[in-house]
Amino acid sequence: MSERLKILVVGSGGREHAILRECLRSPIASDVIAAPGNGGMALEAQCIPVDVGDPTAIVELARAESVDFAIIGPEVPLCAGAVDSLADAGILAFGPNAKAARFEGSKTFTKDFLDKYNIPTARFGNFSETSPALDYLEGYPEQGRIVVKASGLAAGKGVIIAETRAKAKQAVVDMLEGAQFGSSGEEIVIEEFMEGRETSLHLLVSGQDFSVLPTSRDHKKIVEGDTGPNTGGMGVIAPDPTIPDETLYEILETIAKPTLAGIQSEGIDYRGILYIGLMLTDEGPKVLEFNVRLGDPETQLILPLFKEDTVELFLSAARGESLPDNLTPTGDSAITVVLAADGYPDSYPKGTPIELPVSLPEGVSIIHAGTKQDSNGNLVTSGGRVLNLVALADTAEIASQRIYKACEHTYFEKQYFRRDIGMTVPENSY
Ligand code: AMP
Ligand code: GLY
Repeated sequence: MSERLKILVVGSGGREHAILRECLRSPIASDVIAAPGNGGMALEAQCIPVDVGDPTAIVELARAESVDFAIIGPEVPLCAGAVDSLADAGILAFGPNAKAARFEGSKTFTKDFLDKYNIPTARFGNFSETSPALDYLEGYPEQGRIVVKASGLAAGKGVIIAETRAKAKQAVVDMLEGAQFGSSGEEIVIEEFMEGRETSLHLLVSGQDFSVLPTSRDHKKIVEGDTGPNTGGMGVIAPDPTIPDETLYEILETIAKPTLAGIQSEGIDYRGILYIGLMLTDEGPKVLEFNVRLGDPETQLILPLFKEDTVELFLSAARGESLPDNLTPTGDSAITVVLAADGYPDSYPKGTPIELPVSLPEGVSIIHAGTKQDSNGNLVTSGGRVLNLVALADTAEIASQRIYKACEHTYFEKQYFRRDIGMTVPENSY
């Protein structure tokens, strides 16, 4: 019998519920627990409260529960050094260490890295003082979009796409002087607006080696046709049907491989997921951002689309072992649709009762995100993105039919979802 491990999944979103499901069906897992988990995860495994931003608390919990392997889902514990603290305590963990997690925790660090290694990205300037930032903006035309970004973690909200130079200047002042994003905005990136089509690519990295995970396309805007404010992601199609093999090859050659080579040159031991956010422009693919964890809701589709055991792959990455060049696709297409609370991504109600259907269309499953059990044990909403419906099918068309059939049910009052996930998405048209 191969090794059997007690696994801890850290996090409480749809991503972590999807990871938990992979663990529960892995032959390697002898037992699986989660912290803090959500309402759906609690139906499938023991969930223990924890402050995910506190590495010491995560270590204490892992020790008390005799955990062999911890899988860290979100960026906050990764950037706070949870993997380093677990390693110091002799507990193996999946995810980049704090040094490697700067690729998400600091956009200024990432832009300097991209510049140093000539990896295509938007023209930019990094600033921590207002006056040089305002001077730099004089180099942009008065009219036209300019992007101003808080450097630190801002839960996807720290990016302002200003319509004019005057508005970009205001964004600079708001971040550097008005503390609009708190300490995350103490350093900022100003960059040119890139026209094109957005996509992302997840790499599983084990230090020296990497595997490419199935392609996926998130739909980040709240409204159909990719309009309205940015969200954490409203739905995904995978594999991304708009990425032909030549484009994937170009992304690997011009971006992924030079990035991994640069990481090694910097002496960074990167183990975990590298999520490359990309804009496919007329000049070729360019990096929008890096994340150091799996995308949410991308995970919900990516993990079921290859045949290898996810836990075995994550273990190999965490141990710095070799990884397969190519994963074995199941051949399915998948679509996920996020059911959000009315008002998301701004303010929204919590505590709305949830009623799950007695049956779902073939190939459809439910993954929980912002859900919890109230004091009476009833399932209620507890976040903006509440549930994810996931459909797997032989073709994207059938997956689409299945998912929208499943969306006909009322899961909770005033549920909101996009009706165009996986359908042709226009070039960005902000
Ligand atoms: P980021 O967190 O840096 O990926 O930015 C969040 C979102 O803002 C991206 O997913 C894009 O939709 C948009 N965005 C960021 N930077 C740019 C850019 N330079 N040009 C166009 N859109 C951008
Ligand atoms: N869905 C986008 C992200 O996880 O960053």
